[in-house]
Amino acid sequence: METGEDFIGVFDSGLGGISVLASLTKKLPREDFLFYGDSANAPYGEKPEEQVRALSVDLADRLIQRGAKAVVIACNTATSAAAQTIREKYPEIPIVGVEPAVKPAALNLANKKVLVMATSMTLARDKYKELASRFEASASLLPLACPDLAARIEEGNLEGEDLYRMLEKLLAPYIGKVDGVVLGCTHYPFVKKQIASILGDLPFFDGAKGTANELSRRLAAADLLTSRTDPGKVIFDSSKKLPAELALYEEFYQKALFL
Ligand code: DGL
Repeated sequence: METGEDFIGVFDSGLGGISVLASLTKKLPREDFLFYGDSANAPYGEKPEEQVRALSVDLADRLIQRGAKAVVIACNTATSAAAQTIREKYPEIPIVGVEPAVKPAALNLANKKVLVMATSMTLARDKYKELASRFEASASLLPLACPDLAARIEEGNLEGEDLYRMLEKLLAPYIGKVDGVVLGCTHYPFVKKQIASILGDLPFFDGAKGTANELSRRLAAADLLTSRTDPGKVIFDSSKKLPAELALYEEFYQKALFL
């Protein structure tokens, strides 16, 4: 997709944002989407904040230079580090971010214990602390930074025994002790089944549907919804310039449609 075409740009540190992309295409099936994963630089979650901000602004710049009419930051980490900077740089373009789904979790699980899985950076930023402070009277929030998880999901092969062991080690202290889980990183919905096999069949919450609703509202308010009536296209691009990487994105998109 190039300048002049009517499309929405979506980016993530890697392929996790494809879990959000699937909600966007379901909500807005006539729109065209260009998804860009920065897999060559993933993961973002353990990098210095300044670096994540610079990488994220650069990705937004490139999507907007290619002609995106709106940008979705399909990454909790990049949203917390860079959404404000990107919005200030492009005040005329709808910029929609994603945040851990603490609100729906706290409202659905009043007075219960909610595990909030996210990257170290997402949980360390004031943005998360403010969000948590708004809802900690409703539910007890247990933040859990998962340092290597997004990087492992980037590798694919989600059935690997090593991935199960990694999750088991992370989650062991919470078995039988939590009532629900917030998947506060867009990579994590891809391992929901594996998490449920350890913690049990609990309610899970992620930001994908909320982000799709917000994008739809913002496009309507700015009169930017497409006038096309045929089904929209989805195109993948990656900083990891390997055909196998784009094939992995396609595979994850097919998975994401059924999450
Ligand atoms: N997908 C990103 C998020 O939602 C983070 C993964 C990473 O560490 O790069 O936070």
